[in-house]
Amino acid sequence: MRRKTIFDVYQMKAAGEKIAWLTSYDYPTAQFAQAAGMDMILVGDSLGMCVYGYSSTVPVTMDQCIAHSEAVRRGAPGCFVVGDMPLGSYQSSDEQAVDNAIRFLKEADVDAIKLEGGVRIASRIRAITDAGINVIGHIGLTPQSSGQLGGHKAQGRTAETAELVIEDALAVQEAGAKMILVEAVPAEVQKCIWEKLEIPVMSIGAGPHCDGQLLIVSDLIGQFQAFTPKFVKKYCNIAETITAAMEDYVKEVKAGFFPDEDTYCYKMIEGEQEKFLKLIEKK
Ligand code: KIV
Repeated sequence: MRRKTIFDVYQMKAAGEKIAWLTSYDYPTAQFAQAAGMDMILVGDSLGMCVYGYSSTVPVTMDQCIAHSEAVRRGAPGCFVVGDMPLGSYQSSDEQAVDNAIRFLKEADVDAIKLEGGVRIASRIRAITDAGINVIGHIGLTPQSSGQLGGHKAQGRTAETAELVIEDALAVQEAGAKMILVEAVPAEVQKCIWEKLEIPVMSIGAGPHCDGQLLIVSDLIGQFQAFTPKFVKKYCNIAETITAAMEDYVKEVKAGFFPDEDTYCYKMIEGEQEKFLKLIEKK
């Protein structure tokens, strides 16, 4: 299968074809995503909350992101896979950022990396881009700095803060990022970013005026239970389906209905049972 590249993404933008992007953290889900026609997969540091049960993305490490990215790459060899730089992997220096971005390519074979921040992170974007690696900027609500933002809140809802979001968007493009993701800003602000920028503009919770959408897979399938942001559409309720299946299993085990011998058990090879009974009679 041919692997999607950044040129495919640019061609989709040029043709006005919307780009479908989803997070994924494991091999089977990546397989489902590719089979469903997903263009891009983000191995987000949201894996901290969706897979490990942390209360935020803060504890997530590079090693965890790399291990999950490797699994996703194997499951979706044809998708454009993006590795997410976790907190602590790029904040200290441009050198640290480049070294960790290189790890993503060498160890997990991703197509791009994503990092959070605009103006304040521009030199990191420039350094990683100069190392020959595709960078996707992430502005608006940036979960790694939710402490400074006062929680997981929509950004740019006043004229002054909207202007700051636009400045971030321009800084990300100017620094050489190949794409930008805008999270949880009003649709009017996103429209302005889309009109001003040349690079593909993606949205998670920033409305329809952009080149494509990202959702967190655990939200889309109704698996993540802690909270549901306003912008999430649940396309199924996998938590209900899984829990119902497990409840049925518990009931059947306790009632002795599972496994029934005719359907779910191996049989000895013809003639072997008699021999076996004779053998154990002698013991
Ligand atoms: O980690 C992630 O999944 C993300 C999204 C919230 C955009 O960064």
